[in-house]
Amino acid sequence: MSDFSATGYQPVSVSDPEVAALVGQDLPEDAFREIRDILFTVKGFDLDSYKDRCIKRRIAARIRQLGFPHISGYVACLAAEPTEQLALLEALTIHVSQFFRNPTTFMVLEKKILPALLRTRPAGRELRLWSAGCAMGEEPYSLALLCDELCNSPEQITIYATDISNDILKKARQGRYEPHRVAEVPDSVLKRYFTLEEGFYRLNDRLRKRVRFFHNDILNDRPFHRVDLILCRNMLIYFSPPQQEHILKTFAAALVAGGYLVLGRSETMISETRELFECVNAAERIYRKKADDVKEDD
Ligand SMILES: C[S@@+](CC[C@H](N)C(=O)[O-])C[C@H]1O[C@@H](n2cnc3c(N)ncnc32)[C@H](O)[C@@H]1O
Repeated sequence: MSDFSATGYQPVSVSDPEVAALVGQDLPEDAFREIRDILFTVKGFDLDSYKDRCIKRRIAARIRQLGFPHISGYVACLAAEPTEQLALLEALTIHVSQFFRNPTTFMVLEKKILPALLRTRPAGRELRLWSAGCAMGEEPYSLALLCDELCNSPEQITIYATDISNDILKKARQGRYEPHRVAEVPDSVLKRYFTLEEGFYRLNDRLRKRVRFFHNDILNDRPFHRVDLILCRNMLIYFSPPQQEHILKTFAAALVAGGYLVLGRSETMISETRELFECVNAAERIYRKKADDVKEDD
């Protein structure tokens, strides 16, 4: 049993319906709607589009963790406190990832997409790759590993990695992983680029420095420009269809004509964005920006 004395928590009767809801680890619909509206208004984050059935339970857990005996007190706090808005988003955002997640996608990147980009780029122009929603860095570091193997001068490739969560970005910069997160990394690559430290695999400094991490809210912040390849996998599923469309248009504006976009396995183009991209590999959700359909945002 937790010791709540530091939080000022006072035991209350579970016959109170608000408290009973929290004890039952669920959240009444009206409280959920209030919390949803606050997050949508102040952060543009739409809980309705969250596919995660546990969302209400996680909000209830956050309220209990803070020691609020009543939901209404928490809702008032959330409305008034930007720090709690961020903390709740942090508690709700899932950072699951893995090196070379969906290995066949990375095989296509290694064998086809990256060699084509390296071959066709204008002489002297750097390649710009972007992992949007990078979680703990597994995805952009996987790209860095591929680039290191494929290119004699990998310093001509810039890899940007962005996420909305500052906490997760801090961990990503450390490049230190539990064994299950590197399960798809071939042994030879593990030996060459990682050291085992107290049960964690740590990526070497040279590769870590290849990835430039930035905080970026994909809904509200400015994107990068003249990007050749964007990986945005398993993030669109968090958003409502209009927000997905907005994000896909943002990517179209960020990409050079002919640049590639890779989505997650359960994500796809919607409505008008189908006109902006052609599909080059349906199974791996790889798309290519059509020429001239969208003005590049210089
Ligand atoms: C499930 S992870 C995906 C990680 C990686 N792309 C992969 O497929 O393995 C989704 C990431 O999206 C981030 N995210 C959620 N909303 C975001 C937003 N509005 N802007 C940027 N990143 C966001 C989360 O913090 C989380 O790290």
